[in-house]
Amino acid sequence: MNNKTIRSIKGTQDILPEESIKWQSLENEIRKITSHYGYEEIRTPAFEQTKLFSRGVGEETDIVSKEMYSWTDQGGENLTLKPELTASVARAYIQHNLGLVSPVNKLYYIDALFRRERPQKGRYRQFHQFGVEAFGSEHPEIDAEVIALAISIFYSVGLEELQLNINSIGSPECRKNYRIALQEFLKPHFSNLSETSQKRFNNNPLRILDTKAPHEINILNDAPIISNYWTDEDETHFKKVIEYLDILEIKYQLMPRLVRGLDYYTRTTFEITSSNLGAQDAICGGGRYDGLVEMLGGKPTPGIGFAAGMERLLLAMKNNQSKKNKVQIYIVGLGDNARGTVIKLAEELRQQNIATEFDVLRRSLKAQLREANKMGVSYAIIIGDKELESNQLELKNFSTGNQQKIELNKIVEHMNSLSF
Ligand code: HAM
Repeated sequence: MNNKTIRSIKGTQDILPEESIKWQSLENEIRKITSHYGYEEIRTPAFEQTKLFSRGVGEETDIVSKEMYSWTDQGGENLTLKPELTASVARAYIQHNLGLVSPVNKLYYIDALFRRERPQKGRYRQFHQFGVEAFGSEHPEIDAEVIALAISIFYSVGLEELQLNINSIGSPECRKNYRIALQEFLKPHFSNLSETSQKRFNNNPLRILDTKAPHEINILNDAPIISNYWTDEDETHFKKVIEYLDILEIKYQLMPRLVRGLDYYTRTTFEITSSNLGAQDAICGGGRYDGLVEMLGGKPTPGIGFAAGMERLLLAMKNNQSKKNKVQIYIVGLGDNARGTVIKLAEELRQQNIATEFDVLRRSLKAQLREANKMGVSYAIIIGDKELESNQLELKNFSTGNQQKIELNKIVEHMNSLSF
């Protein structure tokens, strides 16, 4: 590659045909299973007003404070490539009054997102998520349904060794009291905290629980846990979620320190990890966000959802053997006179939903047959001057090796009668 060659941007990936076939089969499975659970697709724009994310996701979160691709456009508007979808979907929910159309709205998406993180395996700057957002019910039934949907999709695409980690970070009232208790606990350790945690101490002390630093994890072992600060309603809600998971026979791990890195969460928070992944082992994360719609200017509306990283899912899917879409017929064209007939016949067969290819490099008979064989076609149709003159095409069956003659104006009908 010389230095004039333009390459893709760090942290972005091209998905070439060999890979895209795996994406398609994953997407098909997602669409099928979400529809069984009554979710409908929503598509939102690639960019939004920056304030949607600073307000919705939270000014102090890593996503908003460090990772957004933001710019001011020619009209002076502050815009951002969307780093996550919950805020966008909530914005669309409010803007289109979806709550008036139906008391419960169950939406799903498959989309590209942008975060300026340090790229590594399983972590990219443009990546894809599929996710669901359910608006309108505060009840724990929907928490259990959303989790069951995630697990069901992961199992159906062949993931193994999943772990569901779950917690409740309570209502805002609970978190206010917990925050004070956590700060009290951390105060004597302040000078031992990392710079990041020291910053979080005032702005967002709960995020300190997310630390990966061993000495901080040690300190936090004795920290108060949020369940001691739940309100009675928080406790009843969480116990019901757990009860429903037991009814559904979904295994889980209670994680009293699981807080998640986005500010909109209330009560149920969860993550699903896979031991098939390395350091970036979170396949999906989600939770309740009962205050988000109101915070973005809508009527108070409870909500819950999750999002899963598609690249991570594909990495974790072992034996992902999606079949290539098979070409069924190859038309071998020989000589100038045959070309028009070849193009027309290919078009007619394709109109009958028969996948058909023909040679566009004007190769020899032998080379074209070799190509047809490589593609694994079922049949080749040979058209040259001789065939045009006699109006009889040569049809070669690749599985039996048999060859027969078929009249030109009968060939489409004949091919249509065969099963591939
Ligand atoms: P999140 O935890 O930021 O949550 O992202 C969810 C999932 O997206 C992660 O578990 C991971 O699989 C994937 N992911 C995140 N960042 C990257 C990256 N840089 N490269 C590859 N994959 C990545 C949210 O985005 C919330 N909106 C989820 C949610 C929906 N909560 C409620 N509803």
